[in-house]
Amino acid sequence: MASANITQNYRNLKPSRQAITQITDVAAYLAARLPATYAATSSSINHVLQRFPEFEPVTMLDIGAGPGTASFAAFEQFPSLQNFILMDDNVPFLSAAQQLLQIAPTILARAKIINADITKWTDFTKSDFVIAAYALVELPLSHQIHLLHNLWQACTGVLLIVEPGTPKAYQSLMSLRQQLIDTGAYVLAPCIGHGACPLMNNDWCHFSQRLARTRIHMQAKGANVPFEDEKYSYLAVSRTQVGTSSSRILAPPQMGKACVELKICTQNGLENRFITSRDKPGFKKARKLNWGDTV
Ligand SMILES: C[S@@+](CC[C@H](N)C(=O)[O-])C[C@H]1O[C@@H](n2cnc3c(N)ncnc32)[C@H](O)[C@@H]1O
Repeated sequence: MASANITQNYRNLKPSRQAITQITDVAAYLAARLPATYAATSSSINHVLQRFPEFEPVTMLDIGAGPGTASFAAFEQFPSLQNFILMDDNVPFLSAAQQLLQIAPTILARAKIINADITKWTDFTKSDFVIAAYALVELPLSHQIHLLHNLWQACTGVLLIVEPGTPKAYQSLMSLRQQLIDTGAYVLAPCIGHGACPLMNNDWCHFSQRLARTRIHMQAKGANVPFEDEKYSYLAVSRTQVGTSSSRILAPPQMGKACVELKICTQNGLENRFITSRDKPGFKKARKLNWGDTV
């Protein structure tokens, strides 16, 4: 029941402040939502790493941390990380984070937890890696803009925002992207450059991450298939300019017997690229490509 509510609340964009009020709500979130937010955040971090393999953050700030999802995801992918700060103002979420961190490896167990309203906080600790995962979506755009300004001041390396893969979240990310570019940020991903987004006609940039469902996850969601596809949007910006960007696949590749069709974002705008079986090596490579990959 609690997990059905969590899923329903997520679909209805109900903020955690109303949806998560007791420890049973957190338990439902851990079973029904965290696997997906973890998978989407891990996938976004992976895109950051593909663009910026030299990035070796030591300090991390997890904004709207909830149970610590983004910290756990970053810990998995960055062995360089030594210090974590988790910020949130939801007490049931924070006590779950505290308990989960206690049974995690020492570096995570040493994480500092700050109970604070992120929209009012102005003195964020300078950190190499700043992540806000599925948190800005709970704030009005004016608060997002104000918060982003403060987070960018605190960021010494990479700032990553992960959001649900909805048109509304994409629109907010586009406003925030422009705000960051105007203050000197370099866009790492998913965009190819700093120009205007070429998507039009109600199209929106988002990706999908498939994740396996455990038995508890399936029970919590009343699901009968052992996997789900989490749609997400994200934006990663950096303090330093990093190499040149490649093109990115913006939709599931259409795999035909003799042709693969890719919708890609390139330096010259949006393209539909067709790779036919006559180009044997190209076709072989194209058949292994996924939505979100760079080419
Ligand atoms: C959907 S949860 C995401 C949790 C976690 N980042 C994840 O990806 O699983 C959104 C989080 O943002 C936090 N949040 C929303 N508004 C906040 C505010 N004004 N101050 C502090 N935390 C806030 C909520 O308490 C909640 O933990």
